Amino acid sequence: MTQHQPDLRVRLGALELQNPVLTASGTFGYGEEVADLVDISKLGAIVCKTVTRKPRAGNAPPRTCETPGGMMNAIGLQNVGLAAFKRDKLPFLRSCGTRLIVNLAGDSREDFASLCADLDGEEGIDALELNISCPNVAHGLDFATDPFETEAVVKACRAATSKPLYVKLSPNVTDITVIARAAQEGGADALSVANTFIGFAVDTRTRRPRLSNGTGGLSGPAIRPLALRAVWRCAQNVQIPIIGIGGIATANDALEFLIAGASAVQVGTATFIRPTAALDVVDGIKDYLAHHKIDALHELIGSIQM
Ligand SMILES: Cc1cc2nc3c(=O)[nH]c(=O)nc-3n(C[C@H](O)[C@H](O)[C@H](O)COP(=O)(O)O)c2cc1C
Repeated sequence: MTQHQPDLRVRLGALELQNPVLTASGTFGYGEEVADLVDISKLGAIVCKTVTRKPRAGNAPPRTCETPGGMMNAIGLQNVGLAAFKRDKLPFLRSCGTRLIVNLAGDSREDFASLCADLDGEEGIDALELNISCPNVAHGLDFATDPFETEAVVKACRAATSKPLYVKLSPNVTDITVIARAAQEGGADALSVANTFIGFAVDTRTRRPRLSNGTGGLSGPAIRPLALRAVWRCAQNVQIPIIGIGGIATANDALEFLIAGASAVQVGTATFIRPTAALDVVDGIKDYLAHHKIDALHELIGSIQM
């Protein structure tokens, strides 16, 4: 008897992935750091660390700390900068045998758009993910907290590239669906929901913040129900696909997001504990579909019964 082999393929805009499991930006480096531990070719896609125009040293240490059910980070977008990314990181990323999504951030609409234009001509980059959870130097506020800024920056990027454009939203807003609709209006092909939740932790011995930056982004299992709600609400409010992110460590976690309306998921903090976490999620989703005799993943997406 042949084993039931479910179809795990998903489409995010014009891009088709072999399965719905991606790595989350900033938790998988540039691929080479984990290549000895993980068969990267089996992932749906790699999303690499945010790249900015100029290299960034990031914040002073301590930049991470553990919290119940998660961690906080204030890395401060440390990265090698666009020129070194293209020269030193892209060749390996292109050779990984899976799709490559490049996450980028700018400090103005123009900076975002010019980064997109620069990467547009690069072979082997399958999509761009805009990290808009960063301040607009001209206006102070994070792009992702303002629907007008969100729509404008996405529109500028849309005009600068023909690659699929995914927009990573911040959960640190009153109503994420307003921002989701603005990103869709700007021309996003998919939404990544979401980035970390801003938190604060105090060292009671020194009475100082535990992170040098003061605040930090909370990630890991602690945020899963919050992120899941954000995904579920966005799925009800936009027509473009959603990539669910937040505390996903097991196939069951990922299935929650898929059933709630995500077309794909990203695995972040879990990779620090178990480098093979994302691959285990792929296998677990396959087993679930086979067990439930579901032929294709798309039958499961958004199948929540209320
Ligand atoms: C150490 C660390 C660094 C991160 N760096 C980035 C980054 O450079 N760009 C970005 O868009 N998100 C970054 N993130 C956020 C993750 O991509 C993800 O959205 C978040 O951690 C929630 O997912 P998780 O709970 O599975 O980790 C980072 C997260 C962590 C923990």
